[in-house]
Amino acid sequence: MNLTTIILAAGKGTRMRSELPKVLHKIAGRPLLRHVYDMSHSLENNRILIVYGHGAERVLDTLKDIDVAWFEQKQQLGTGHAVQQVADQIKDGDAVLILYGDVPLLKQSTVQKLLANVSENSLALLTVTLDNPKGYGRIVRNDAGWVTRIVEEKDATESEKKIREVNTGIMAVQGAQLKKWLGKLKNHNAQGEYYLTDIIEMAVSEQVAVVTSQPETEDEVLGVNDRNQLSHLERVYQNEQSKALMTQGVTLYDPARFDLRGSIDALGQDIEIDINVILEGRNRIGNNVRVGANCRIKDSVIEDNVEILPNCVIENAVIGQGSRIGPFARLRPETILAENVHIGNFVEIKKSTVADGSKINHLSYIGDSTVGSKVNIGAGTITCNYDGVNKFKTVIGDGAFIGSDTQLIAPVTIGNNATIGAGSTITRDSPENQLTLSRAKQISVSGWQRPVKKEN
Ligand code: UD1
Ligand code: CA
Repeated sequence: MNLTTIILAAGKGTRMRSELPKVLHKIAGRPLLRHVYDMSHSLENNRILIVYGHGAERVLDTLKDIDVAWFEQKQQLGTGHAVQQVADQIKDGDAVLILYGDVPLLKQSTVQKLLANVSENSLALLTVTLDNPKGYGRIVRNDAGWVTRIVEEKDATESEKKIREVNTGIMAVQGAQLKKWLGKLKNHNAQGEYYLTDIIEMAVSEQVAVVTSQPETEDEVLGVNDRNQLSHLERVYQNEQSKALMTQGVTLYDPARFDLRGSIDALGQDIEIDINVILEGRNRIGNNVRVGANCRIKDSVIEDNVEILPNCVIENAVIGQGSRIGPFARLRPETILAENVHIGNFVEIKKSTVADGSKINHLSYIGDSTVGSKVNIGAGTITCNYDGVNKFKTVIGDGAFIGSDTQLIAPVTIGNNATIGAGSTITRDSPENQLTLSRAKQISVSGWQRPVKKEN
């Protein structure tokens, strides 16, 4: 059977108390709906339809790059009504999988198990048994143990409320049958809604078996309704990622204080990560890399034997083998460091390349620059790359020595092995192998008296 997945994502999410549509709230930096999409997208032969409603524009705008068809449910009249919005998209022979856009941690393996149970003669339902089933639809079974119907909390009798097996909302149904049953839904219930769950009773009355399966863990089927649940699922997700990294040989000083918001596309051996490190986007990390406490690293490549000292912020940078960064360094986008480069405290580098063995150890700003190899840049050096309108380049040749507190007014080129005297403002190209400096002459005034405080 071909697969059609319908993701229900129109609900308001009142309890989030947010301007942001619920399905755009994030886990590990990714919108909830994106998690559900990514999982569905990994299923074979799958066509994905999303029913959206609340915050329509923002949802479409945020997720415009994903490969799905969108259907607006203008009024949210229930889960059955939501699926009715796409009824004419469903092909008779399809297996139709229903997912919720606010249930982010569902695993592909659980869905595969569920899909194995759907056929012309059977409907597949994912259920879970909870200690506290409050709020959920309860699974009603007959004496022989077969599911006969689902009753919503608000419609349940006292004895039905005691049932702890609940509907996760996730199910798979054969296309022709789903369409037929959708057409028969009524809203005669406590909430005046069209309940998708009513198709269970219809299936049973037509001798279609309702086959249940369960997720590996309860967390997989938990939905996000408020920010407490959001933070719970964030920790569940981060904990899984931390475990996977440790299994792959990464030392995390404290897995509870590590966050991965994205992926590590290449992972070396003997990586050590201290506490409060955030890895965002897509990073690649080589062998023997050490990351100190409180670093945020995004979309970067970190080669072998790199040491990143505490409190660094690194984005879209390449850090070559054996380099040492920080503490307190900031590498901004398009920073490319070759091998054995040292970037020290309170140094900011932007859109610049730095060749092998160069050192920028203290309090400097290097932007729009090409720095050669074995260059030494003294404390407080600034490339003045911006005149308020345009940006200009600074080129520093191999072996150059830039004295402390130098301003390099771009565009400017410093020749190979040039030396710049400390405190210079360099406005013109400086020749190789020479000392260049620009400083006011130092004078001393003999016999000078300090002013004294006037009486009255
Ligand atoms: C639903 C189930 C309940 C189950 C529970 C699991 C029904 C009638 N009840 O209840 O048995 O235990 O989920 O969480 O199906 N949505 C729409 N349009 C609508 C209504 C809902 O898109 O008109 C979406 C929501 O955005 C959400 C999902 O469907 O992603 C579930 O809606 P929700 O209101 O949370 O369902 P419950 O009433 O909690
Ligand atoms: Ca819900």
